[in-house]
Amino acid sequence: MTINPVFTNASPLASVDPERQFLADVVEGLSARQKYLSAKYFYDAAGSDLFEAITRQPEYYPTRTELGILDADGPAIASALPRRADLVEFGSGSTVKVRRLLRHLPDLAAYVPVDVSESFLRSEADALAIDFPHLGIEPVAADFTRPFTLPDGLCGQSVAGFFPGSTIGNFEPPQAADLLAHFGRVLGRGATLIVGVDLVKDVDILEAAYDDTAGVTAAFNLNLLTRINRELGADFAVARFAHRTFFNPRASRIEMHLVSLDDQSVAIGGQTFSFTKGESIHTENSYKYTVATFRDLAAEAGWEPVSVWTDADALFSVHALRRR
Ligand code: AVJ
Repeated sequence: MTINPVFTNASPLASVDPERQFLADVVEGLSARQKYLSAKYFYDAAGSDLFEAITRQPEYYPTRTELGILDADGPAIASALPRRADLVEFGSGSTVKVRRLLRHLPDLAAYVPVDVSESFLRSEADALAIDFPHLGIEPVAADFTRPFTLPDGLCGQSVAGFFPGSTIGNFEPPQAADLLAHFGRVLGRGATLIVGVDLVKDVDILEAAYDDTAGVTAAFNLNLLTRINRELGADFAVARFAHRTFFNPRASRIEMHLVSLDDQSVAIGGQTFSFTKGESIHTENSYKYTVATFRDLAAEAGWEPVSVWTDADALFSVHALRRR
């Protein structure tokens, strides 16, 4: 069976030429005093493959640990959801994680994956339909961070959201709270949200997870410059930058940077950007929470705690929240 995604409210941003937007964002970021690039640009084809490879590195505990929690606590997580729920996954990507939940949700009314990539959405939905033949699947092609409407008839008490992967950690805390409030508006009053959140822990474990010995995270970070060279005709000497990561305890976040190994300059779209030796481009933040600090953030956004599950080493958490 071929499942055709529903296309909701094309956002005004979608009409801006993505290449021009990319150039504008790069120019803005490299013009700042502390140079920065948005982590959303990591995920070209090569970057998506590198991220997949990161999740298989021994030091990168989040993916494996979250999957372990979904397996071990699947029945309990399922029982936090209402009967005959509609389950909306924000930024579904691959369906690896939701499959772990679906096994425990035989009476689910519908699964609603929301993702910007239409082709990926369609192929994932088709594959899921083969493995879960009785499941209603209603894909929605949309940017989950922007307003969109659910398929007809879905809203309120029996609606649940799923946001795994600690993607919430990529947002600055005020934006993370806005995103959780936005999920609440999309899902409706009384909805349940299942969200995966990486936990604060020993600095050595955190830093190793973002600096694996095989160098996959370094390659992932540096690929951003390769992408800018290819797509924007820039001339970054990629070998003259190095991956650097550290835990910033005040902000409770892992930071990733690309450090210039020399004084050098780079031409992009008719402009030149200079780097001094040791100067960095800040490329990613990955915020880490405690159960309590995440519950505070969720409360700001109108969600109250229902349950939380963690692994035995308290590396990662999966929260169930209910919208007031
Ligand atoms: C996809 C945002 C959860 O922050 O751990 C992994 C991205 N960056 N290694 C994370 C990432 C470098 C990842 N998230």
